[in-house]
Amino acid sequence: MIISGKELSSKLKTDMRDEVSTFTEKYGRVPHLVVILVGDDPASVSYVTGKAKASEFVGIRNTTIRKPETISEDELLELIRRLNADDSVDGILVQLPLPEHISEAKVIETIDKSKDVDGFHPLNVAALWQKQPCTLPCTPKGIIKMLKAAGVEIKGKRAVVIGRSNIVGLPVAKLLLDENATVTIAHSRTADLPAVTREADILVVAIGKPRFVTADMVSEGAAVIDVGVNRDPETGKLCGDVDFADIEPKASVITPVPGGVGPMTISCLMENTIECFLRKTASR
Ligand code: GUN
Repeated sequence: MIISGKELSSKLKTDMRDEVSTFTEKYGRVPHLVVILVGDDPASVSYVTGKAKASEFVGIRNTTIRKPETISEDELLELIRRLNADDSVDGILVQLPLPEHISEAKVIETIDKSKDVDGFHPLNVAALWQKQPCTLPCTPKGIIKMLKAAGVEIKGKRAVVIGRSNIVGLPVAKLLLDENATVTIAHSRTADLPAVTREADILVVAIGKPRFVTADMVSEGAAVIDVGVNRDPETGKLCGDVDFADIEPKASVITPVPGGVGPMTISCLMENTIECFLRKTASR
């Protein structure tokens, strides 16, 4: 079974649109998400456009601020501080990656924790690992929603995550652990990786290498979640980290690229923006 992130995301966004349509009457305004894009990397431009389109659909106010590649770190941090202080802004997202002269760590920690819709702020990350209330990072949150929607039992299962990034690998491993899976975090240097991944009931791949996971690495009936977004070196088309054609017949469920995890990341961003808005308006 192919899990359509696109379909599930569409359903979630429709439900959120209904919820947001009541906000003006209840709270006097709708949530406001500000997205900052530095430079003009085509992939980042496309992600940011997707976020603006989803906001429009859900009824969230979206401001996309584009800055040139040459913006200084100080200027960017100052912009973030202004948005932190702006009461009309509920969520702030700075699209990553950033140019080398700007510290991503500084940018992330400058965003006010209460407006950190990505869930990347160190205080949000700490809260996640300490089982405190927090904003969950969008991609890991979307992956858990997809597994649940597909009826995949997580509790008691063996999950293997390939990749250990702050954005996906580490937090998705933590969320799977919280769902009572037994989790192994593997990476490109894991010795005999196929032997490790063949043990997985649930395999999450976030390594950023086209067709890295081949059929011999997947056991019959595994649930396979492909977080990769790559260009196929032969065709130039978008492809995942998983050799989809070879693995799809073996997997019980599998996510396609495009149309799998990507759309879920965006709908979870909408959800996080609404959560930040409600936390603020409810605390008044
Ligand atoms: N670049 C790739 N994925 C993400 C994401 O989830 N958030 C941000 N801010 N940048 C990204």
